[in-house]
Amino acid sequence: MKTITLLSLICLAGALPAGAPAQTIASPSGDLTLVFGLSGEGEPVYSLDYKGKRIVDRSRLGLRGDERDFTSGFEILSVDTLGVDRTWQPVWGEYAEIRDNFREMAVGLRASAPEREMTLRFRLFDDGLGFRYEFPRQKEGSYLTLKDEATEFNFTGDHTLFCIPGDYDTDEYLWSETTFSTLPEAMNGYRTHSEAQRTGGNTIQTPMLLKTADPVYVNVHEAALVNYPAMLLDVDTDGHAMKAHLVPDRLGVAGYMQYPFQTPWRTLIVSDDARDILSSQLILNLNEPCAIEDTSWIKPMKFMGVWWEMFTGHQKTWAYSDDYLAKPGITDYTALTPNGRHPANTDNVKRYIDFAAAHGIEGVLVEGWNEGWEDWASYRKNRQFLFDKAYPDFDVEGLHEYARSKGVKLIMHHETAANAADYALQLDRAFQFMKDNGYDAVKTGYVGAIIPRSEHHTSQWMVDHVLDVAKRAADYQIMVDSHEAPRPTGLCRTWPNWLAQESARGGEFESMGGNPPSHTALLPFTRLKGGPMDYTPGLFETRLSYYNEGKDSQAGTTLARQLALYLTMPSPMQMACDLPENYERFPDAFRFIEDVPVDWRDSRYLEAEPARYITVARQDKHSDDWYVGAITDDKARTALIDFSFLPEGRQYEATVYEDAPDADWKDNPQAYRIRKVKVDSGTRLSQYLAPGGGAAMRVVPLP
Ligand code: NOJ
Ligand code: CA
Repeated sequence: MKTITLLSLICLAGALPAGAPAQTIASPSGDLTLVFGLSGEGEPVYSLDYKGKRIVDRSRLGLRGDERDFTSGFEILSVDTLGVDRTWQPVWGEYAEIRDNFREMAVGLRASAPEREMTLRFRLFDDGLGFRYEFPRQKEGSYLTLKDEATEFNFTGDHTLFCIPGDYDTDEYLWSETTFSTLPEAMNGYRTHSEAQRTGGNTIQTPMLLKTADPVYVNVHEAALVNYPAMLLDVDTDGHAMKAHLVPDRLGVAGYMQYPFQTPWRTLIVSDDARDILSSQLILNLNEPCAIEDTSWIKPMKFMGVWWEMFTGHQKTWAYSDDYLAKPGITDYTALTPNGRHPANTDNVKRYIDFAAAHGIEGVLVEGWNEGWEDWASYRKNRQFLFDKAYPDFDVEGLHEYARSKGVKLIMHHETAANAADYALQLDRAFQFMKDNGYDAVKTGYVGAIIPRSEHHTSQWMVDHVLDVAKRAADYQIMVDSHEAPRPTGLCRTWPNWLAQESARGGEFESMGGNPPSHTALLPFTRLKGGPMDYTPGLFETRLSYYNEGKDSQAGTTLARQLALYLTMPSPMQMACDLPENYERFPDAFRFIEDVPVDWRDSRYLEAEPARYITVARQDKHSDDWYVGAITDDKARTALIDFSFLPEGRQYEATVYEDAPDADWKDNPQAYRIRKVKVDSGTRLSQYLAPGGGAAMRVVPLP
């Protein structure tokens, strides 16, 4: 289905001057209304209403660069409106088919002395708004040294904000639930990362979520971040307003722009039903269609990893040897003494391959297989990461053969320790090495400050770098999972080989203080709107003291909740993060991880409230099976599961993996039960969830 309706093309007889009557468009259902106009000074301004309520009050728009100012002095040259209703099929995801239905208004603007031209393109969907700036070639000047974006979001009250602090380099934070007026206090509480990276003040990151008293929920983010820096938000706590804050490089330049160019879309997902925020596909809809012609090689998958051993307190290391400081110049690794604590060794990797093969897990990730790990997190001066040189105890060819014989794919790891410039130089060699040795997927990483370039993780240069890696990976038919990269903005629609990103505080923090249960009940409303997260669920042994009495980190979760995360944190590249020996302790629960798909035909959000609870049902893309996942925060809850999503007249058997009555994330996380119930489209099931708990169900049609 595809309908494009030309609503109107107003080639104005004369330009409309500053202060001219406003231009209005409504979303297809009429729920959202956008008003655009010019102030008396010719500043572009807009406002947004939802079901008759003001959501964004009159807010200014524009860009400022060293050479030109695009914020005032404008008159309206043209107004084009368009209605589009079409569907498209993503390569993978939560839905087999996505509807893209919007009204568009493109406003051509011109200012004089010096002459400047810009178009503001608004797309109004039933679930929100996207707008961007477009710059044609200008009469004078060929480039813009971008300093600031004037985009404002003036909200209408002291709303609740779910956010993390402004930071140019990392987003691996716990979330604050605060308000405009209490934001300064909330932001002061953050001490987890280097203060030097922080913007300071009341700056926060996107995606962020706002909730009004009514309530109306608003997710603020961006779509199609290409050749531009990421956007943070400066918050005016008294005015309840936010303004774009572009991530600069260390010279203070936000972007080096050449005309013609366009900015990413600024996005507001809006609804009075929290479930709509989760089901919204607005950000994907604002991205360009798939750029890869043959996508048959892109394969969603579950994977295990030689990974968690390094986090558990086993004293295992990514590095092969400890005596590099004594022998700093050495390049022959066989001359180093092995430390005996290096899990990326041939025998151990075979153990993971065996386990994955026995349990139908498609991939095995190996971290610490290559040269350069000796001083990666601290010095990074003596050693360079080499992406085609394995440590002496990692037999590349032998493991290629072994994995192939077992039907398992090895996944390569490229930790760059944030030397992205060097990685870019090695990339072709690295990807060729992967293909030569049977690897189709790579996990990349950018831990630490960007060296040697004076860039930030989310500045224009790094935004370009990570997209370039995904594109060049596509040339080699390689799938990508990037860590410590700029927060995703839906580019996985265009480059579906970019399966997942971390770009938030993930499961690794369960070994470093833990993530509270509310964390995973919020991420789907915020971070996940840009694209799937490699959160690394599947943790069965949630207490680090299990390995080492001195370690007291504990994950904010029950075991049953970890199963539910495969539904509530959807990703086409989904890890089973725990150690094989822990899965062997709970084989009946692991059965759910074996069964659960990672690619869906349909998804139905049944219950949702940010940071509190989520219940979702999803249908497998390749069978008639449904799966249900429900999670709660640190309070016990009864989820009400309405099975009316099932086709009428058909009987199903649900295998329910649930918290035991005495389960509790803190004191009794491994107490779970498995039971079977018959369900059909008329079933309404009350499902108990323990504090920090959850439930997962496999729902299979009966013959
Ligand atoms: C941080 C990543 O998020 C984690 O998954 C990885 O194991 C380490 N860096 C080492 O690269
Ligand atoms: Ca990380």
